[in-house]
Amino acid sequence: MAATKPLEGRVAFITGAARGQGRSHAIRLAEEGADIVAIDVCKPISETITYPLATSDDLAETVRAVEATGRKVLAREVDVRDLAALQKVVADTIEQFGRLDILVANAGVLSWGRIWEMSEEQWDTVIDVNLNGTWRTVRAVLPAMIEAGNGGSVILVSSSAGLKATPGNAHYAASKHGVTALTNALAIEAGEYGIRVNSIHPYSIDTPMIEKDAMIELFTKHPSFIHGFSPMPYHPVNADGSKGLQDFMTVEEVSDVVAWLAGDGSRTISGSQIAIDRGSLKY
Ligand SMILES: NC(=O)c1ccc[n+]([C@@H]2O[C@H](COP(=O)([O-])OP(=O)(O)OC[C@H]3O[C@@H](n4cnc5c(N)ncnc54)[C@H](O)[C@@H]3O)[C@@H](O)[C@H]2O)c1
Repeated sequence: MAATKPLEGRVAFITGAARGQGRSHAIRLAEEGADIVAIDVCKPISETITYPLATSDDLAETVRAVEATGRKVLAREVDVRDLAALQKVVADTIEQFGRLDILVANAGVLSWGRIWEMSEEQWDTVIDVNLNGTWRTVRAVLPAMIEAGNGGSVILVSSSAGLKATPGNAHYAASKHGVTALTNALAIEAGEYGIRVNSIHPYSIDTPMIEKDAMIELFTKHPSFIHGFSPMPYHPVNADGSKGLQDFMTVEEVSDVVAWLAGDGSRTISGSQIAIDRGSLKY
């Protein structure tokens, strides 16, 4: 008899799933046996976000990669700022899969600027996607998870910036601190239904969101800001087998943690902030 995979029979809802960390989580959870609901906006949302967001082709590539694992996938181009559209996807999910067990609220955007110089649109876009969009995702998904009655695991994607000061992107830090607060209150409220809720706090993952040039420009203008972005400590062996200091961690390394939080091996963990930063936060 074939061995059962750890997430066999479960359904995972992942936002920002067209590329980067979200795509990696979709593939990893599918490899562990879950069927996948993959959401992404797949178009530009504001001129204040100066790197390109994902495309329809990116989402199609996620679908292909999930299907290659043998699991089913429901993919939709939806903006996490649109509650009605999210609720429609949740209704379609229940119709197609009959249940919802795992939420990875991962969609997010980043921009750079000093607090008293940024435009209202720059502030509002980051808060609206990262904090309000995460709440809207929770608002759409939790009733279906509760109704399904199987408990589950919610993973809200915050950041190191959700736990410390990050000069040059205070709106992002405010949004990610908000996600941390949402996590902790939701852990108590959803705990009554056997649903665990944790936040992850990655630092320096190699994805299109990281605009090295924008960071270098900011640190050149304001050298003291660099202390908010500590180097990653020495690590004896990196994911690629190399040794020593690295600028970035990989999306797969974050997925290792997401898979652990999604599965029963973390059944005692709720209301926790899981730093994925090789200890950088402790500098
Ligand atoms: N890269 C890092 O170093 C880092 C560090 C800490 C936290 N994070 C967080 O990790 C998460 C994933 O980011 P990533 O690094 O994979 O970057 P990414 O830009 O590759 O992925 C983000 C995804 O979210 C999608 N998205 C953006 N706005 C959306 C919206 N309104 N509705 C639906 N989808 C939307 C984008 O199209 C993109 O596919 C984000 O929440 C980010 O803030 C990233």
